[in-house]
Amino acid sequence: MKQDIQHYFSTIHKIIREIISDSSDIAKKQIAHLAEQLKIDGYEKESKMLQNILAAQKKEDKLIPIKILSSSLGFCGEELTKAVSLPVNKENGAQLVNVTFVNELPDTSPIFSEAIIKAISSILTEWANADKLIDKGLDPVRSCLIYGAPGTGKTQLALWMAKQLGLPVVTARLDGLMSSYLGTTSKNIGNLFDFANRYKCLLLLDEFDAIAKFRADNQEIGEIKRVVNTLLQNMDTRKQNGFTIGITNHPKLLDPAVWRRFDIQIEIPNPNREVLQQIIKNKLKPIRLKSSQIKFLSWLIDNGTGADAEVLTRWIKKAKIVIADSFDLIFYNLIQEFIFLNAGRVNRQNADIVMQDDRGLLKEKLSQSPYKFTGIEISEILNVDKSTVSRIKTQNNK
Ligand SMILES: Nc1ncnc2c1ncn2[C@@H]1O[C@H](COP(=O)(O)OP(=O)(O)O)[C@@H](O)[C@H]1O
Ligand SMILES: [Mg+2]
Repeated sequence: MKQDIQHYFSTIHKIIREIISDSSDIAKKQIAHLAEQLKIDGYEKESKMLQNILAAQKKEDKLIPIKILSSSLGFCGEELTKAVSLPVNKENGAQLVNVTFVNELPDTSPIFSEAIIKAISSILTEWANADKLIDKGLDPVRSCLIYGAPGTGKTQLALWMAKQLGLPVVTARLDGLMSSYLGTTSKNIGNLFDFANRYKCLLLLDEFDAIAKFRADNQEIGEIKRVVNTLLQNMDTRKQNGFTIGITNHPKLLDPAVWRRFDIQIEIPNPNREVLQQIIKNKLKPIRLKSSQIKFLSWLIDNGTGADAEVLTRWIKKAKIVIADSFDLIFYNLIQEFIFLNAGRVNRQNADIVMQDDRGLLKEKLSQSPYKFTGIEISEILNVDKSTVSRIKTQNNK
């Protein structure tokens, strides 16, 4: 059976868009000619679609200074500048991406255990030497999924990695991407990847689980499949073009096929005791506390995240500035106040012990904890002398 022209037109549309992006004048003239012919033969809609492509291209040609960079990272791309117009959701004008330029990226990496630092360094080394690897016929890792609890430093890590590579970051705005209109989400995903592939950048799919949320919210099975398939196809195409980092707090919500599309997956665990103390010490700068106090802060938010440490240290820093001289004297009371105001940020069990105000119990728990506080350390925390600490009796049987 003979097919209607619409049947072929989406393919024609794609081919034309691809050809025209190379900005060949001959192609443009031919497309204009075809549009005219279609119009004469009564294919108004199809003719209009072609004219729209031409118009959009004209606008882009004017806006964007085309400057192909020689590849130092294994792929080519135009330079992303402030003059480049960002892609939007055509239904509502919402931006699909945020761009963070290299000078706006963080200079410091979050603090991690040695094993994580090693894993990340190896990716960075690979990415920085992508050219050499490709030369020798080896394919460098192109995409990486970072997952872990909220507040463990994943976003900061991705931004810092981009800084190390000297690449601007194109962050997908997943809220802007999702649409309840049929087909629009897929179109937006396509536009997002087209944009990222065109420029030399690191594509960051932060809070990636929003795609999974889309699944839960959207009842239309066909539409969900389309969105996931579009994503998979685009991730495959992206492989030839640049680096991608995906981040999620909820790896279980991700479609397994999407999960597998990432060359590597890095789990960022909550910091262990040593790392947490390092983070606290670092975030307190330029203020210095006794090591017993830092240890106590770490115990207080034990199992917590870098984000928890950030809130706690901000509080401590302010107090230290306001009440400089009597800081040691009221350190323990300060902690009680902090717990009172930040119930969700502390280790519940340990915080409960502090709030009970039973110094005997506190002494027992501190010395038995994996932190193994010594008598001297406890005396510094409570700001009493060591002999007093040794006289404190546990009264937790009452
Ligand atoms: N390991 C860490 N070292 C230093 N700072 C951290 C660490 N983890 C989290 N932070 C801090 O906590 C805040 C939240 O971090 P972010 O990268 O947004 O976490 P995530 O993306 O994992 O939710 C940031 O200000 C960050 O500096
Ligand atoms: Mg984040």
